[in-house]
Amino acid sequence: MHLDLQDRVIVLTGAASGIGLACLKAFAAEGCTVIAADIDRARLDLAVAAAGGRVVAQVADVTDPTQVQALVDRAVEEFGRLDVMFNNAGGAFPTPTETQRIEDYRRIIALNLDSVYYGIHAALPVMLAQGHGCILSTTSGAGLNAVDGLAVYGAAKAGVISLMKSVATEFGGRGIRANTLSPGAMDTPGLRAWLETFPDGPARYGRQIPSGRLGTGEDIAQTALFLASDAAAYINGVVIPVDGAIHARLASPHIE
Ligand SMILES: NC(=O)c1ccc[n+]([C@@H]2O[C@H](COP(=O)([O-])OP(=O)(O)OC[C@H]3O[C@@H](n4cnc5c(N)ncnc54)[C@H](O)[C@@H]3O)[C@@H](O)[C@H]2O)c1
Repeated sequence: MHLDLQDRVIVLTGAASGIGLACLKAFAAEGCTVIAADIDRARLDLAVAAAGGRVVAQVADVTDPTQVQALVDRAVEEFGRLDVMFNNAGGAFPTPTETQRIEDYRRIIALNLDSVYYGIHAALPVMLAQGHGCILSTTSGAGLNAVDGLAVYGAAKAGVISLMKSVATEFGGRGIRANTLSPGAMDTPGLRAWLETFPDGPARYGRQIPSGRLGTGEDIAQTALFLASDAAAYINGVVIPVDGAIHARLASPHIE
């Protein structure tokens, strides 16, 4: 399928690692102009060099609304418009709920939910004025179903799904599409750091996934390209699990 994404202008957050890095490379390879944003300057510079194409780097902390606004402003000032706002930056910090500190709660909500709202808030006026725009956000299986130790992260990611559905229904008639990607267990530095704390962690975990392996950033990137393209023109307000069927399985008690 020819996606015809050439010359689209995209803001992508969390672009220096994992899913974001794979998406950065994929959009750049399609000929898009990408404003690649991340909080980690050193890794962002490496990512942009690796992606090639028409990519510019901008260091930004997505928990700061003025820094998110600056990404959208740059798209408009330098490239004349914003076709895709991809709110991808986020992160899980597994903690037993009963010992979670209030400041950690606020940090997790800020990184995973506030950031997405800031992206929507900055992008919407530009997209409405243009009469078109695609918003993508990254949620998690933890936003669909409960995961022990990820109560706050899950609440933030469930909030992302709700926000995105509201944007789709409120602004679908004015040319806006808002769709959410729900990764399963993807082999990224973020997930690997956790899995490697268990003996044979990544391989053992991968074998338990119905599709028989961990996902990759590229698995998400291919779905993101499709959602950003006109081939997905009538797809709006959905959550697409890219998870090797993790969520298709009923988590009934398991007898060893
Ligand atoms: N990897 C998985 O299995 C998985 C599963 C479900 C959901 N997700 C979600 O996918 C997204 C990407 O995760 P990943 O696994 O690629 O993680 P990752 O840790 O590999 O990459 C995340 C990137 O976000 C950047 N970042 C962190 N805080 C930031 C901030 N305040 N401002 C700007 N950038 C910031 C980091 O520097 C990093 O480059 C996240 O939203 C995550 O919650 C991942």
